[in-house]
Amino acid sequence: MARVNDGNLLQHFTECALVAKLTAEGESLRLVATHAMAPHEPAENPEVHDFNRRARAKLAAASKDSDVAVLRAYALTFASTERYPNSAALFAALLGAPRLAGVLCEIRPEARFALEESWRDTDVAIEGRDWREAHADGVLFPPEGLDRPWLITLDPYTWLHDGEAKKEQRGPYLMRPDVELLRHVLAGHVRTGQPGALSAFVYGVDPSHAKAFRSHMLKLADRLGLERAVLGVGGPDGTRHLGIVMTTVPDLAAEAAEGWDRFLSEAEAPGDVDPAPLD
Ligand SMILES: C[S@@+](CC[C@H](N)C(=O)[O-])C[C@H]1O[C@@H](n2cnc3c(N)ncnc32)[C@H](O)[C@@H]1O
Repeated sequence: MARVNDGNLLQHFTECALVAKLTAEGESLRLVATHAMAPHEPAENPEVHDFNRRARAKLAAASKDSDVAVLRAYALTFASTERYPNSAALFAALLGAPRLAGVLCEIRPEARFALEESWRDTDVAIEGRDWREAHADGVLFPPEGLDRPWLITLDPYTWLHDGEAKKEQRGPYLMRPDVELLRHVLAGHVRTGQPGALSAFVYGVDPSHAKAFRSHMLKLADRLGLERAVLGVGGPDGTRHLGIVMTTVPDLAAEAAEGWDRFLSEAEAPGDVDPAPLD
């Protein structure tokens, strides 16, 4: 089950904007997605929360002619709350699957099988295991002589503080020890000299978790000398959904953040599509 809330819209908006910019001259893309999901899944209780309203409105209003990459991708994949696409399916819609190579990690067997079926005979490999295990085997590192831009994207459930889960139970969450793993993979990609970006998203974080996510991820970007931006949108019960972009490409992080702010303010303008009454 996919979630389909404003946080997922933030995630897909940001990733599609990065992909569109990184491949604007017709380049192919190397993709590393640590939390892939099946190519499409039905949404989990899409109508329950008011904060889902904007995401559902955007799904309903998506057009193949939009100048917003995520809306083009939603239209091209016939995205809906019954058939909500994952990021890799959106990128394939934007670029064509032959222009994608890389690795998708997914721990749920049924999602893994669906991914294997969908990406059969392509240059995208499926790792049906914890992304940390794939990392330990070197599978997430770029190939020798990488010849294309890259995107590394992480979509864990949320950020947890040290002590909220044991190291071996980090599972679907992002925690401080993961940032060190990311540093190795990210540095490996930066060293290729190809342009690229890393994005990561956490959902429903309170101020204390938001502060820790921001601070650890911004420190990572600064250690590698990358430009970075934090993006966000309100979640339920006073929480926030947050994303971070760090990149080797001048101005790309700031452009993604400005694009998201513009997209949100337009989404909130009077006349925005209201897909269905909310209980
Ligand atoms: C939030 S969903 C991802 C949504 C997806 N990225 C998209 O494009 O909308 C998280 C996915 O990550 C998978 N997952 C959770 N923990 C994982 C881990 N440690 N390694 C790989 N996949 C994981 C879950 O089974 C789930 O399908």
